[in-house]
Amino acid sequence: MNIQVVVILCLLSTSSLFAEESTNVATKASESLPAKLLIDLKGPAKKFSPTFAGLMTEEINHSYDGGLYAELIRNRVFRDNETNVEAWSLTVPSNAFASMGVTDRYPLTDKLPKSLDVVISKVDSNQPVMVSNEGFWGIPVKPNTTYNVSFYAKGNNVWEKKKGDPDPITFRVPLTISLQSNDGTKVHASATTPPLTGGWQKFELTLKTGSEMSASKENKFVISAAATGAFRLSLVSLFPPTYKNRINGNRTDLMEKLAGLHPKFLRFPGGNFLEGDNLSDRYDWKQTRGPLEFRSGHPGCWRYRSSDGLGLLEFMGWCEDLGMEPVLAVYAGYSLKQQPVAAGPLLEPYVQDALDEIEYLTADAKTTHWGAIRARDGHPEPFRLKYVEIGNEDQFDKSGSYEGRYAQFHDAIKARYPDLQLIATAGVKTRKPDVIDDHFYRPTEWFVKEFSHYDKTDRNGPKIFVGEWATMKKPAWITKGVGRPNTPTLDEALGDAAWMCAMERNSDLIVMQCYAPLLTNENPEATQWKPNLIGYDALHSYVSPSWHAQHLFNTHRGDEVLTASWEKEDPANPLPYSVTRDKAKGLLHIKLVNTSASPREVTIDLGKETKTASKASLITLTSKDPQTANSLQNPDAVKPVTGSIQGTSSGFPVTVPPNALVIITLKLK
Ligand code: AHR
Repeated sequence: MNIQVVVILCLLSTSSLFAEESTNVATKASESLPAKLLIDLKGPAKKFSPTFAGLMTEEINHSYDGGLYAELIRNRVFRDNETNVEAWSLTVPSNAFASMGVTDRYPLTDKLPKSLDVVISKVDSNQPVMVSNEGFWGIPVKPNTTYNVSFYAKGNNVWEKKKGDPDPITFRVPLTISLQSNDGTKVHASATTPPLTGGWQKFELTLKTGSEMSASKENKFVISAAATGAFRLSLVSLFPPTYKNRINGNRTDLMEKLAGLHPKFLRFPGGNFLEGDNLSDRYDWKQTRGPLEFRSGHPGCWRYRSSDGLGLLEFMGWCEDLGMEPVLAVYAGYSLKQQPVAAGPLLEPYVQDALDEIEYLTADAKTTHWGAIRARDGHPEPFRLKYVEIGNEDQFDKSGSYEGRYAQFHDAIKARYPDLQLIATAGVKTRKPDVIDDHFYRPTEWFVKEFSHYDKTDRNGPKIFVGEWATMKKPAWITKGVGRPNTPTLDEALGDAAWMCAMERNSDLIVMQCYAPLLTNENPEATQWKPNLIGYDALHSYVSPSWHAQHLFNTHRGDEVLTASWEKEDPANPLPYSVTRDKAKGLLHIKLVNTSASPREVTIDLGKETKTASKASLITLTSKDPQTANSLQNPDAVKPVTGSIQGTSSGFPVTVPPNALVIITLKLK
């Protein structure tokens, strides 16, 4: 597959969403009109959907492999690269002879046809040959930590010898496994297997580090042997402790950062990752379930192979761990290289796959075929599922086949699951979807200007799911991220805040919204798209200014949106805002976003009869330079500061600093 073509296809799909020109909204304070925000506390309020804010995810930027999925071994089934044994290396002492290579002579299962063949023809018993894995650009090792290792190994047999093979001496000795510093000077932990046999055997061991070390990622995982013969390896796995100790689970620091957003839903498995570049590379959920021995992985559309270790059931476990509702996107018969499947009989198998997937997730374990399989996979209880999305960004299918494809999925799913809410990814005329998924990747100025974007949208039409949005100064698919930080700058976070104001104000229409992409491994080889919400390497992670903005919005929302407006609009100096109320707690949250380089003087007017506590909390997210971003080296360059305003009453003045989001929270009496 031509790598460049693949990337361009993935990236092109959003290009037409980007604003060609932007309006400069930054002006001097002296040019601004005095601003008074009139808030109507008595009038009708709009309710928030219980699933208003959530997460969007897909396998991009090593979001799962080398990211959220806690597996530390890269290329564990030896299929990541056809031409070299990616991430693996062989260290042969000067007085030894050994080689390694990927072979398909000894498949572990029909889904894992490759194994690593290590042949040792000369070695000293005190100087072993070492097979090492470098992990996802480092192996994080921490003190006092237990790592779970598992792998399959088999020694060679005399009868296996093929013409040209070195003399086989059967290998019936133990292997030693260890975590070592890259230079080999420190062995952090080690363990030894029983002797190998001539057939595949699964070995499960633990590696426990001591207290006399500091956390680092400059380490390797090593399997060493000091005997002649050959041994083969398959499905080599190393797990650190995971979030909530899930087996085959997720990386704790990233899960904690996601939990900090208080997400109510998870949109998965994509994004372009759902579609694949080619039909054969689509997200085929049936291949992502069951024991890892039967998950072959598949080529993703973002230049690397997905292990699918984080498969369908793991997505659901992730939802359970963070209390999120699943928003399941089903493959709808279109792949990115303009490969639509025509509606009609040819589409039937894909529709059936979607029906099976819904049955797998939601049906009874005792009375249904797929419900029983789910139970066998470890989850007898059916999951709750409300939203199913049909495809992804199907407006990019130039053949115009979505109308027919959507109708076929819609009719089949509604016939069996009438209560499911169906999401269309492009406009359709012959059916009324429950929800439409809109995507926006635009610069700050656009989001500020589009403050009223949804104000006039027909309330009798489908609800809106803003299933991907992010402020980006320049389109990611054109810049490819060159010369910009991995995660949003403050300026971009303010664009995000402006857009969240616009969405909050339309909470009667927008049932869900989520930023994208969510995660990025920051190794240059790992990233395909910038900006992303959360950055990390093998050991550390950090959150962006936009994460802070979303965290603040999600923790200062309440349950309803109040009507508010500027006494006089100043079109040259827009100041996005949103006013929401937590009825039960009697709290009012006022959000103001200043993207200009000057402070803005604002008066808040709550109406004469309103009584409030005389002190309000004031949270400010700002920095001197709006181009500041957080990073692994400087994770707290931009973070919110909490203060207060004294003397609040039914009307009070506030200064919104330049380049700032402020959130005022008032107790209503
Ligand atoms: O978020 C990155 C990509 O942008 C998504 O995969 C796709 O849906 C959109 O084009």
